[in-house]
Amino acid sequence: MRSAASAPIGVFDSGVGGLSVLREIRRTLPNETLYYVADSGHAPYGDKDTAYIEQRSRYIIKFLLAQGVKAVVVACNTVTGLVIQHLRTHFAQLPIVAIEPAVKPAALHTRSGVVGVLATRQTVASPGLARLVQQHGQGVRVLLQACPGWVECVERHELDSPATVALVQQFVQPLLAQNADTLVLGCTHYPFLAPVIAALAGPEMRIIDPAAAVARQLATRLQQQGLLHADSAGIAPMRFWSSGASAHAQRVISQLLAHPVAVEQLPTAG
Ligand code: DGL
Repeated sequence: MRSAASAPIGVFDSGVGGLSVLREIRRTLPNETLYYVADSGHAPYGDKDTAYIEQRSRYIIKFLLAQGVKAVVVACNTVTGLVIQHLRTHFAQLPIVAIEPAVKPAALHTRSGVVGVLATRQTVASPGLARLVQQHGQGVRVLLQACPGWVECVERHELDSPATVALVQQFVQPLLAQNADTLVLGCTHYPFLAPVIAALAGPEMRIIDPAAAVARQLATRLQQQGLLHADSAGIAPMRFWSSGASAHAQRVISQLLAHPVAVEQLPTAG
């Protein structure tokens, strides 16, 4: 019989952005089997209301539980910012690790005293981010910048087209003009735009992606709960589901991970 520790880890996002977290988990925990759900058919979450985001998150976690996962990683800042407490209460027995914008390290790092947080509209307006800024942003100006349209660029795998560069510039420029020297990638899609952001912001800009910290946190949590899969016969498998059109999903996920993968259709609710 399969032990609890050898069960897979579920990772999900509104779409393909959470792959930026998945690849860090893969690096940190190569023995773990990973199941990834991209809810691309319902992205972006950043423009949806809280009830909708909670309902989609619950549906996906239930799906992952039905596949036998031992833990879930919420690889979506929007979900964390809006509904993480509900999810932790609803799935009280399940270890849940969730990403959130890296306000704390950014506030510690800044020299200019100005930090920019790039995120979706819903994350910018979320109680979770307000709490983080209150806790860690004392004595620092934290500029919250919503970036509508960026998620869609990544979902289309348009990472550096002229239209994407123009859209990135539109939201990065105001932060530069206000003397930000540190930018927080507050949405898991944005690391895929990091080369364009870095080119616009210049070499002095520190850009913070918390994905590696999430992977470390997951490792610690699994270890504490005796759920770490210590040994594996060869490379642990990964499985992918998407609620988006499967041929497109398969192409984009394979491109973002830089190797070909098979993507299954996420069953629809009911
Ligand atoms: N990757 C999600 C996040 O980290 C994007 C949410 C969306 O679809 O708007 O917030």
